[in-house]
Amino acid sequence: MEKREQLYEGKAKVIFATDNPDLLIQYFKDDATAFNGVKKGTITDKGVVNNLVAGKLMTILDAVGIPVHFVRQLNDREQLIRRVEIIPVEVVIRNVVAGSMARRLGLDEGQQLPRPILEFYYKADALDDPLVIRDHVLVFGWATEDELHWIETTCRRINDVLIAFFANIGIRLVDYKLEFGRLHGEVGKVVLADEISPDTCRLWDLTTGEKLDKDRFRRDLGGVVEAYQEVARRMGVTSKTS
Ligand code: TMP
Ligand code: ASP
Repeated sequence: MEKREQLYEGKAKVIFATDNPDLLIQYFKDDATAFNGVKKGTITDKGVVNNLVAGKLMTILDAVGIPVHFVRQLNDREQLIRRVEIIPVEVVIRNVVAGSMARRLGLDEGQQLPRPILEFYYKADALDDPLVIRDHVLVFGWATEDELHWIETTCRRINDVLIAFFANIGIRLVDYKLEFGRLHGEVGKVVLADEISPDTCRLWDLTTGEKLDKDRFRRDLGGVVEAYQEVARRMGVTSKTS
């Protein structure tokens, strides 16, 4: 497998082509942004942590039969992934009241929800990724009824697996964002894509409630690097070079 030209650079990752048209390389940067790029910074070795954390979570989900774009870890910052066409809908899964939902509904953060809430956001930077409803997704054709139904069912399965996994390492999975994509060259096949990492999740220590995720950067709480490292340490994923 040979690394070829850069195809796309996002806020936290870069995507490269390979000599196989169905496979890409996903490179994780240390760049951090928040509020749709308004706040910018870097978090030392975030790219390494997110690469290793995302790879491990994808592997766990793959093992229970969830189709994922992840193929294998290449090195500290790169993973081989299957090429997908990203569905332009971000799914946020909430187990605990926090973040934008707390703000929007005037609620205090921290209340456990009686059952998970699934929210959809339309992926459109120029519009600030607005919250949308199911009918927007269907009527505007961002996903088909079959795809959306599959995504909803799959998100609930993923949530059960991830809640248990994180609880086992003393972490409360408060909320997180998932993206899905259509596999290149395989009509009708949708897989979990992008990443699951401290950038895309709220992770609170189960006993102290300490935040171990990107909110430390968003809210200037300090200890950002340490929080990312702590998640990697508890997950047992460590860099090959450090
Ligand atoms: P929110 O409370 O700001 O809507 O975020 C909900 C979850 O989604 C939180 O765990 C962070 C994650 N998220 C992303 O991964 N990317 C984003 O662009 C946003 C807004 C949230
Ligand atoms: N990922 C988004 C941004 O880059 C928002 C966030 O994570 O807060 O701005």
